Amino acid sequence: MNPNIDWIANNRKTTGKQQGARYIPGTKYFVYTMLLILCASLCFGCTSPETETPNETETPTETEAPVETETPTETEQEPVSEAETETPNETPETEAAPEPTGEEIQAYVTEENNYKNWELWPGTGELDPGKGPHGDQITIYVSDSAFSAIEEKAGVMPEGSTVLKEGYNSEGELIEVVVMHKVEGFDPEHNDWFWLWYDADDEIKAEGKVLSCYNCHTRQAGNDYLFTGDIK
Ligand code: HEC
Repeated sequence: MNPNIDWIANNRKTTGKQQGARYIPGTKYFVYTMLLILCASLCFGCTSPETETPNETETPTETEAPVETETPTETEQEPVSEAETETPNETPETEAAPEPTGEEIQAYVTEENNYKNWELWPGTGELDPGKGPHGDQITIYVSDSAFSAIEEKAGVMPEGSTVLKEGYNSEGELIEVVVMHKVEGFDPEHNDWFWLWYDADDEIKAEGKVLSCYNCHTRQAGNDYLFTGDIK
């Protein structure tokens, strides 16, 4: 040890660089040994962190992988839920199919498919004497499909058929218009007729499933609720 001390002492006299340079080899081994020990201990100790580190890199890959698998699952779920939300959205839409209204039917029979261009109920004429509550004189118009159903004795009129009656007073003034318009699924209990009643000023008096209308017309339930002629 003494020679070493002397050597160190000698070297201390030399320049810092030399001192350091020469001093280091001695320490180097010590430092290296220490580092090795440290490394060894660290390596053992770090075995888990080291393996954790690759694990970490693996983990992201793994987490990426599950994320990826999750993402498709999510994206799979999303369209499913979208489809699910779309389906109920579509269902009420189809269920809530444009409900007919008095206004719509009134506009339909006066503009789109003006009843003035229709045939009269076969065998009837203009301003025939009325037998019911609809006026002293009546004129009954029938749409094309209603006309065919009467002619063919179809038994029931098809969807979209319309029968319209003008009611006049004894002086020949128009007082009201009553309409029976068939809308599929509208009122299956009463052969799907939509009932409409409006006055000479086009003001709607009753519309839809009108109890007072079908109550009286029920007498003719076997003839599709129609009075004027036998359609069977
Ligand atoms: C008191 C019974 C009674 C009531 C209530 C009644 N109707 Fe009538 N309806 C008749 C009779 C009877 C006829 C046959 C034509 C006539 O004599 O006026 C008729 C004819 C019709 C016609 C021509 C087609 C057919 O059946 O011959 C239509 C359309 C019509 N009614 C619609 C209506 C509407 C809409 C209402 C409700 C606002 C209504 N009716 C209420 C008795 C009634």
